[in-house]
Amino acid sequence: MNKQFILSKEQKKIIDKDGFIIFPPNNFVLKNLKKIHKILENLITKEKSKAGWEGKEEYYKKGKPFEKGARRLGNLINKNDIFKELIVLPEIAQTSEYMVNNDIKIGAVDFRDPLIGTGNQILHIDWLPRTKHKDPFESVLVQIVLDNTNKTNGPLRVVPGTHKKLGWPDDHIKNVNLTHKKEKLVFLKKGSIVVINGNLWHGGTGNISGNKRRIILIDIRNRNLPQLLNQKKYIDKKVLNNLNEYQKYLLGVRDIDKNQKEKSFGSGQAYRMKYGRKRD
Ligand SMILES: [Fe+2]
Repeated sequence: MNKQFILSKEQKKIIDKDGFIIFPPNNFVLKNLKKIHKILENLITKEKSKAGWEGKEEYYKKGKPFEKGARRLGNLINKNDIFKELIVLPEIAQTSEYMVNNDIKIGAVDFRDPLIGTGNQILHIDWLPRTKHKDPFESVLVQIVLDNTNKTNGPLRVVPGTHKKLGWPDDHIKNVNLTHKKEKLVFLKKGSIVVINGNLWHGGTGNISGNKRRIILIDIRNRNLPQLLNQKKYIDKKVLNNLNEYQKYLLGVRDIDKNQKEKSFGSGQAYRMKYGRKRD
């Protein structure tokens, strides 16, 4: 693991300008890739349609996938020791802290793999839009890439620089389903890590070939915000006792860390809390 990593001036410029940054294949991820694939595939087989429902259990019905058209897993920290090693890769915390300009907290470590003929997402942001230019950025999405991505297996699309825009993408463009003239498809080598400002317009594209496009998704927010999945509630004592102090800090599971009453807290809840109503 590259413990010496320090975000450079150049990298900070890219993050400011584009709203995302790609780190080349990480040695630790590459070294463990086979093992990670095996663990994830075994979990998918074991959990079947129950996979990915952590935090939203009340919506589960027998046989109903968490996301139609994608294989999903949730709460990975609790499921195998390898995942707690991934969250401490220094690029992730340093970039996230730089993006939100504050301390951070990891709120979910999940898995996603779009299936053939699906995976198409509208251009969206992962958090509430900013309403003033001086509003801070509060959320970060990290993708650890487990398969090479190309035009045909559902690569990520982003519109560079749009994290600076105020409001929702559909305040600016008529149809968030369509290809944006400034959008870029991001082709990545397995082992890469992409760190994305939660306010950047982005989306998955359709997987045409059916080749796997597996990623680990890490949801990170300003430390003051509730977590996407309440880690204190969802991490078992045995797993918790095996985390080091830094991992406990990042996951907000130390005794001194705030208790969160919601078992999950998404952008919809944040919107209702801020505006007292659902988004129209
Ligand atoms: Fe997203």
